[in-house]
Amino acid sequence: MRTLNPVLLSSLLLIANIAQADALRERANTLFKPVPDKVSEVRGQPVSEAQAVLGHKLWFDPRLSRSHIISCNTCHNLSLGGVDSVTTSIGHGWQKGPRNSPTVLNSVFNAAQFWDGRAEDLQAQAKGPVQASVEMNNTPERVEQTLKSIPAYVSEFKKAFPKDSDPVSFDNMALAIEAFEVGLTTPNAPFDRYLTGDDKALSDKQKTGLALFMDAGCAGCHNGVNLGGQGYFPFGVIQRPGAEVLPEADKGRFTVTNTASDEYVFRAAPLRNVALTAPYFHSGEVWELEQAVAIMGDSQLGRQLDADEVNAITAFLHSLTGDQPQVAYPVLPTSTATTPKPE
Ligand code: HEM
Ligand code: HEM
Repeated sequence: MRTLNPVLLSSLLLIANIAQADALRERANTLFKPVPDKVSEVRGQPVSEAQAVLGHKLWFDPRLSRSHIISCNTCHNLSLGGVDSVTTSIGHGWQKGPRNSPTVLNSVFNAAQFWDGRAEDLQAQAKGPVQASVEMNNTPERVEQTLKSIPAYVSEFKKAFPKDSDPVSFDNMALAIEAFEVGLTTPNAPFDRYLTGDDKALSDKQKTGLALFMDAGCAGCHNGVNLGGQGYFPFGVIQRPGAEVLPEADKGRFTVTNTASDEYVFRAAPLRNVALTAPYFHSGEVWELEQAVAIMGDSQLGRQLDADEVNAITAFLHSLTGDQPQVAYPVLPTSTATTPKPE
């Protein structure tokens, strides 16, 4: 029998490898999408630059809270991947809230906001924390009073909402914060560079992890731009994790829909920048990403992933860290004699 010429053989192997690599990328491109460089529309309307500039200040302004010490950035620290890095958030009067703070980075791509999806978009969401007693513990009236007492804010609201007869309002505060948050995207992650054609952007281990993420079934729930943030699933489709990870009192989407089948149902967590956002799950009880991956295997897939599989998937998840937004710390306009005092 004739043996193949070694040069021909190595060329054939190379072609086979390229075909395999292209097949992995092609498959990945049917399930996931890169983070776009810029989001320029919200609800079909162009994002207003003047609103985003105002929202940038409001995001960092602790005077939106009753105590004057808690801003959005306290729990969604943009220096720390948009989270507070504690199990569950600490709010007004050092109260411990019931859930872990999810990242605000890329949140514009989620179908709905919060672990249970109870806010339909970012402007609806922004009104929640300001009023929540365990977060900023303020009221819309007091926020409006505060903003109206600061002349520089009054003129910025006028500029940002030129058609409104009463531009300084709680609703417009939320719209401005949303316009700012829309810019908090993290493009150019190694995974995105891979999706758009750069084979070297992922290591071999990360490619193995990507293949496993798709083959094992993770991508069934974690897909799209954010690898999650779209659909709702029981935490514990196959096997409910223990109460230390899934506390009994938090029934998730059941509280939103009042439907028995929604007990312990949560939004599939978006996984962009997940390597930066420990601790994990809505309870924030898991500190290691490897452990979170292993728990997902058991609870959602009924598959005990071995150490190599867990490591490869975790390595892949690290490739989802994109360019972090470079946000300057703003100088805020000064309070006046009529600004309500902190309580
Ligand atoms: C959830 C923005 C203030 C803690 C969220 C989400 C966004 C957001 C966009 C949803 C992210 C997602 O579902 O993926 C804001 C804005 C704030 C603010 C604009 C200021 C107006 C705070 C503060 C705290 C906090 C001060 C902590 C005291 C949380 C927690 C969640 C959350 C625990 C998850 C709550 C749940 O799912 O029930 N925030 N946040 N946030 N934020 Fe904030
Ligand atoms: C949460 C990874 C499979 C639904 C998470 C988190 C990670 C993860 C790392 C935590 C994210 C965070 O806290 O920020 C994976 C991996 C999977 C997998 C590697 C495959 C082995 C699935 C499947 C489903 C699913 C198949 C749906 C049936 C969810 C849900 C959450 C979540 C609902 C939120 C849980 C909570 O309430 O805390 N996933 N996942 N996952 N995943 Fe998965």
